[in-house]
Amino acid sequence: MKRRTLAGIGAGVFLLPLAACGDGDDSGGDGGGDGLLVGFAQVGAESAWRTANSDSVKAAADADERIAELKFVDAQQEQEKQIDAIRTFITQKVDVIVLAPVVETGWTEVLEEAEQAGIPVILADRGIEEADEDLYVTRLGSDFVAEGHSAGAWAATTFAADTDFRILELQGTTGSAPANDRKAGFFDELDTQGVAYTIVDSQTGNFTKEEGKAVMETFISTYGLEDIDLLYAHNDEMGLGAIQAIEEAGKAPGTDIQIIIVDGSKAGFQAGVDGKVNYIVECNPAFGEQLMDVIVQVADGESVEKFTPVEEGVFDASQFEAELPNRQF
Ligand code: AHR
Repeated sequence: MKRRTLAGIGAGVFLLPLAACGDGDDSGGDGGGDGLLVGFAQVGAESAWRTANSDSVKAAADADERIAELKFVDAQQEQEKQIDAIRTFITQKVDVIVLAPVVETGWTEVLEEAEQAGIPVILADRGIEEADEDLYVTRLGSDFVAEGHSAGAWAATTFAADTDFRILELQGTTGSAPANDRKAGFFDELDTQGVAYTIVDSQTGNFTKEEGKAVMETFISTYGLEDIDLLYAHNDEMGLGAIQAIEEAGKAPGTDIQIIIVDGSKAGFQAGVDGKVNYIVECNPAFGEQLMDVIVQVADGESVEKFTPVEEGVFDASQFEAELPNRQF
């Protein structure tokens, strides 16, 4: 019998309508057997990070006897597909919905529908706007603002003596938490440290290699690279695409222009070992097992923190070679 024990989720954190939960109705969903039926609306498959994250969550769900079934939807970076997935999960009467929201806004209506149905929502990876924070129980993922600060701290030290420190920025998906927060943390750090800088341009590459390369090509044809000190790429894929564009323009990434990337994939570290990347801020996708624990806690009505950050590190050129064999994705 599938467990339906949702009453009293996180006292004072998220109140569920009792009629719709903990009612012993096991007819919903098709999970069958013991354990929880979980719906996961994933962002997509835009990066090695994302694929590693999906693999981590699926493997953890498969291995965890507390989980009867994980219904996984790849939303192809489209919010509408995630909203449709949530509505389908509600119809299927899942026990818990996990959402990795592609952007921060536009969730109120569908999350209210989940609330009305008595299904708790957990955010994995990305966050949503503060106005909707009562509509989810907890978030497990990265502290993207801290990642931005880490990148900014390295840039502030590296370019401390530069009186006109000139930056190109490749932002992640417009409106996404990591794009907003990595930007905010980075420039807040530079401002706090009193660094004089110019943002020469800042455009979205949508967290993909193809779009990162295309945007970098436009940057190069518009500004050249002679007067640019740093490229801050919000993820590995965009940084790797930009590296291709820089090389095709006959320049040396990592030397003619310094590069910071965020994620820490094997390919990103290899670029670092090859001297094409100068600093890597880790974003850790391997929180599948931790997520299963949170799902069970939430389903059992235990009190949970509103936000649990995953552990992450930072790496400079002196560490790339030793760290490369440790990278998992
Ligand atoms: O939300 C995490 C970010 O999403 C990762 O940095 C990026 O690679 C992915 O697309």
